[in-house]
Amino acid sequence: PQVIFSGIQPTGVPHIGNYLGALQQWVKLQDEASPKTTLLFSIVDLHAITVNQNPRQLRNACHQMLAALLAVGLDPKRSIIFFQSDVDAHEKLMWILSCRAQMGNLSRMTQWKASSKLNLSDNAPPVEALLNTELELGLYSYPVLQAADVLVHRATHVPVGHDQAQHLEFARKCARTFNHRYGTIFQLPETILSPAKRVMSLTQPHLKMSKSHQDPRSRILISDSTEEIAQKVKTALTDSNSGVSYDPVKRPGVSNLIEIMHHSRADGASCEDIARDCENLTMRAFKEQVAKCIDEHLGEIRQRYEELVGKEKEGYLREVAESGAMRARESAAKTMHLVRDAVGLGGFQ
Ligand code: TYM
Repeated sequence: PQVIFSGIQPTGVPHIGNYLGALQQWVKLQDEASPKTTLLFSIVDLHAITVNQNPRQLRNACHQMLAALLAVGLDPKRSIIFFQSDVDAHEKLMWILSCRAQMGNLSRMTQWKASSKLNLSDNAPPVEALLNTELELGLYSYPVLQAADVLVHRATHVPVGHDQAQHLEFARKCARTFNHRYGTIFQLPETILSPAKRVMSLTQPHLKMSKSHQDPRSRILISDSTEEIAQKVKTALTDSNSGVSYDPVKRPGVSNLIEIMHHSRADGASCEDIARDCENLTMRAFKEQVAKCIDEHLGEIRQRYEELVGKEKEGYLREVAESGAMRARESAAKTMHLVRDAVGLGGFQ
């Protein structure tokens, strides 16, 4: 049977990079899954603390993310939605995997290099070079925890955006190494890249849209109002060519807006179709259409989100998190039983 797993960091309200690149796909997989498929979606608070977090803000961001997952259409009766730190097995498996994981492989991961403030232009700095830095262990070993997330539920499919592909390649490596050493316990999880695999920043269209970029106008949040969306799209960086055409290399800003429109529309119009329809529009008129399209798509989501973050829904969110944690613990316990047995842990089975 299929097991679909994915995770998202509790960054508060998700932006449309997260939404189009991941959450929209999660909902589609949920709605189209056969009844036998298990779906798990985790808010990865343990990953979040690899960078410094204010505890109160972190908790608040966790609540917002849970409300957002429900608002976009994940159904807690169908999918197991849970906070990573509520299920101890993730950390326990991480330790076991990290005993076989190699520093050399971790040093090649690109994400910690981006998150750490180190200036490491080299693709694979020698491990010794790191010993003189203040690089924190958790940020470095982040991919081992991510591998544990996926493997502890013996996931078969993992839907993500482009930036997570390397981490999942590493997860498969962990699984192969374990299976080779201790016998086949883990499935090799397959990466499902979502169609919107790389939504770009509105203000710097050569960079991916990200929570960590300074300028809030670089991203649209799923809770943004009609006016906020219009304003952000209006100030999006494009170019001075006349008319609209789709050419991600030569016209990254315009092409990003076309792609966002493509992924927001339900009618299946391709980027080329959209470019043709908008060919003769002024940039201003084109941007108005883009904003309208995003706003129409987010309208209902925004409304549900506002309801779900209301004080009176707190009890409901707590119930969702508790029942999700319980079901995720059951799913993980089965794997941990096999793992402990295979590795010879615990003295007595
Ligand atoms: P995170 O929280 O950064 O992002 C969550 C999901 O959103 C996708 N994404 C994007 N897709 C397209 N364009 C963008 N601009 C964009 N920004 C983000 C990400 O690819 C991701 O799918 N390490 C992971 C969380 C994680 C995880 C896991 C994922 C922890 N354990 C196990 C899968 C399986 C992360 O930081 O994602």
